[in-house]
Amino acid sequence: MKARRATRTVRIPGVARLPEGEARKILVPAERADAPPLELLLARVGGKLCALDSLCPHEGGRLAEGPLWDGRYVACPLHLYRFDPRTGAAVEVECERATTYALRERDGVAEVELPRDEQE
Ligand code: FES
Repeated sequence: MKARRATRTVRIPGVARLPEGEARKILVPAERADAPPLELLLARVGGKLCALDSLCPHEGGRLAEGPLWDGRYVACPLHLYRFDPRTGAAVEVECERATTYALRERDGVAEVELPRDEQE
């Protein structure tokens, strides 16, 4: 049986201003002082706010912020792969899914469930 990873809830204010069909990068500080921040992409598609890791699962590019491709897909500028921000699924190519995170939007604040940093 696979153990569930512990999560932490990160609150990101000001998301009500993110319009339909746009994505914005957010840096979330790591829990450990010596760890790099996590780069998230928040995207609004179909009226729903979604959260993804900006790391492209293809060859490590970074998914782009700004207008979504066709108004609904995040794209990686390296090889132009596209991903559905709601599921992380690649569009019209064989590729692993982009990592997505559970999110609730309440009163203009996104509450994103992120995995806790690994303990050494
Ligand atoms: S690294 Fe992102 S599409 Fe290739």
